[in-house]
Amino acid sequence: MSGEMSSGDMSSGALRAPDSLGDGTRVTRSGTTRPAPGRPLHPGPVFAAPFHLGDAEPGAGGADVYSRYDNPTIREFESSLGDLDGGRSLAFASGMAALTAVFYGCISSGQRLLIPSDGYFTERLLAQNHLQRFGLETATVPTTEIESRLRGGEFAGTRLILVETPSNPSLDVCDIAAIAELAHRQGALLAVDNTTATPLGQRPLSLGADLVVASDTKALTGHSDLLMGHVSVVDEALFAGLKSWRDLTGSIPGPFETWLAHRSLATLDLRLARQAENAAALSEVLAGAEQVKQVRWPWRAGDRSYEVAQRQMLRPMGVLSASFGSAQAVRDLLGASQLITAATSFGGLHTTLDRRAQFGDDVGAGFVRISCGCEDTLDLVRDVQSALRAVAH
Ligand SMILES: Cc1ncc(COP(=O)(O)O)c(C=O)c1O
Repeated sequence: MSGEMSSGDMSSGALRAPDSLGDGTRVTRSGTTRPAPGRPLHPGPVFAAPFHLGDAEPGAGGADVYSRYDNPTIREFESSLGDLDGGRSLAFASGMAALTAVFYGCISSGQRLLIPSDGYFTERLLAQNHLQRFGLETATVPTTEIESRLRGGEFAGTRLILVETPSNPSLDVCDIAAIAELAHRQGALLAVDNTTATPLGQRPLSLGADLVVASDTKALTGHSDLLMGHVSVVDEALFAGLKSWRDLTGSIPGPFETWLAHRSLATLDLRLARQAENAAALSEVLAGAEQVKQVRWPWRAGDRSYEVAQRQMLRPMGVLSASFGSAQAVRDLLGASQLITAATSFGGLHTTLDRRAQFGDDVGAGFVRISCGCEDTLDLVRDVQSALRAVAH
C-alpha cells in the first residue's frame, strides 16, 4: 500500500510562505494551517497509530490510514519545511534516518557515492559499516577540494554526491551551484546537508541541488530536547523513492516530537539572530586570545570560507570552531566558564562546546566546536574573557 494516498494537500508544492516575506514571518506562517474560529493557533499533536477506516477503502479521499505512512501533525510540519526549502519535504526520526533514506533511496548496489571526508563522522561510519556490505562504494573528499577534483574528472561515474556546507566541524563552505553543475554534467545527483545553515541560512534547491537533507535536531528545532531530520526535493520520482523508503522502514518521527519541532521552528529567525550575534562577538574574543591558535567562523572577514559564504548564504549561523593548545586547555576553559556547557550537538538555546577529537573527528586534541546559544551577548563575552584567564598560554 502506498503512503502517498494520504499526502493530502502537500502535493500542490505551491509556496505558501513566499520569499517576499521576511524570515520571521516565513517561519511563523509557513505551512497549511490557517487560524480558524474556535481552533487552536497551533493545533495539538494527533496521537494515532491506525485511523478509523469506516466502510471506505484504505486512504479513500485522502483519509489517513496508519501513522507509519502519514499523520496530520507530521504532514503539517512537512508543509512548513517544504515552504522554507522550496520543495516537498519528508520528516524523519533523526538526521541519520534522513541521510540513510537519501543513501538507500537514491543509489543501488554497484553505484558510487561521494561524501565529505571532513563532514559529520557518523556518515563515514555508516558507509564503512553498512553501505559497503550492500555493494555501495563510497569515496571521500575534503569540502574545500570537492569542486576542483570534480572538475578534474576524478569521481566520474559517481551516482550521488553529498556535500555538507558549512562542513561540520571545520565550517568550510563550498559552492553549491558550481558543484551542482559539475554533478549534473556527469549524471550524478547532488545532496546538500544543510544542517548548520538551516533553510533560512541557505536554499540548496534553488542553487541547483537535487536533495536537501538535514538534522533538525540542531538549530532548526534548537531546544536540545528532540531528534529529528528531514529531506526536501523538487523531483516527484525522488520524492516517491524516499517516501517508499520511509514507509517501508518506519523511519517516520512520532507526532509529539514533530509537534514540538514545529512549535520550535516558529522562533528560528529570532534564535538564529541571537546565536549569530553571539558567534560574531565570541569569534573576535577568541581570535584576540593568545591561548587560541585558530578561529573559524565563515562570516568573519578573513576566514577562508568568507567569500563563498557571503555569496551563497542568506544569513550567518551561531556555530564556530577554535583550536586550543591541548585537551587540558579546553578543560580549564570549561572549568572556569559559567555559561559554556560541555555538550555535543549544536544549534540549541544554551552555549555549548565539544572537543571533537573525543568523537572521532580527525582534528587536534584542543580543537573545539562552539555552538553559541541565546544568552545575552555581553554576558557571554564577559564569561569567556574571564574563563580564558584560567587557560595557560
Ligand atoms: C551535519 C550533520 N548531519 C547529520 C547529523 C545527524 O543528525 P542526528 O544526530 O539528528 O541523527 C548531524 C549530527 O550531529 C550533523 O551534525
